[in-house]
Amino acid sequence: MYPTKSALVYFSPTGTTKAVLGAIAEGLGLPTTHIDATLPAHRAQDHELDADTLLVLGFPVYYGRVPLIQEEILPRLHGDVRYALPVVVYGNRAYEDSLRELGDLCRQKGYALAAAAVFIAEHSYSTEMGTKRPDDVDRALARHFGAEVMISLKAGKTLDCDMLPGNVPYRTYGPKPPIVPETNEACIACNECVGFCPTGAIASEDRSTDVQRCILCAACIKKCPCEAKFIGFAPMQERIRAMAAANREPKQPRLFLPE
Ligand SMILES: Cc1cc2nc3c(=O)[nH]c(=O)nc-3n(C[C@H](O)[C@H](O)[C@H](O)COP(=O)(O)O)c2cc1C
Repeated sequence: MYPTKSALVYFSPTGTTKAVLGAIAEGLGLPTTHIDATLPAHRAQDHELDADTLLVLGFPVYYGRVPLIQEEILPRLHGDVRYALPVVVYGNRAYEDSLRELGDLCRQKGYALAAAAVFIAEHSYSTEMGTKRPDDVDRALARHFGAEVMISLKAGKTLDCDMLPGNVPYRTYGPKPPIVPETNEACIACNECVGFCPTGAIASEDRSTDVQRCILCAACIKKCPCEAKFIGFAPMQERIRAMAAANREPKQPRLFLPE
């Protein structure tokens, strides 16, 4: 039997992974549950998913890999899910080993792959890479992909994880620079950043950021209503500028459907 409902499970600090999964779900056309694992309180919950559920699993690409925080998310998914749809979303630089890694993680959980996909979004650190993506074209493609996945599932097809791009062993994760986003004078101490920080790294008393907890996901930078957060560390600003200069040309999504 093919799935009759879908569960979208995602970690999405700046919201683009969530947007891509939402468009795929529209194409699937199934009743859909959102399990947004972006905030710490949500990651602390267990989820029971049954065999009728297609698990659509989405992560942003971090350092060409699946973010390490997946270790807090995947063990919380229980039940006898049979089919998963791994999706990675990257900032127009490269996705490297991330999709292969996410496919392998699904396989380790015992899920068969319904299909897999790579989408592009605006980079967490820059508006010059993947600017304003996913855009209408990306969303239309994601919807179309969702519809194709359903046709393929109804035909009983699954995807071989070994054909996904990426190297095993995977590239080294990180390193994350030992810095945190800085705050400028536009800050009105509204404390919204405290609430939407995915790792609970920002103190409510003075909005200082714990460098050990901060994963530099840029949620505070992109979501601050006053645009008060920024990366001030000059060597990193320089790296971002160079990365943007080398990756301005828009890249295209990649869809992997069973033969
Ligand atoms: C720590 C970190 C590492 C990243 N590494 C990559 C990368 O290797 N390649 C790339 O193209 N984009 C990279 N990005 C950009 C994100 O993959 C991209 O902006 C994604 O859309 C963010 O997803 P979200 O909106 O769901 O948080 C990175 C972003 C962060 C915060």
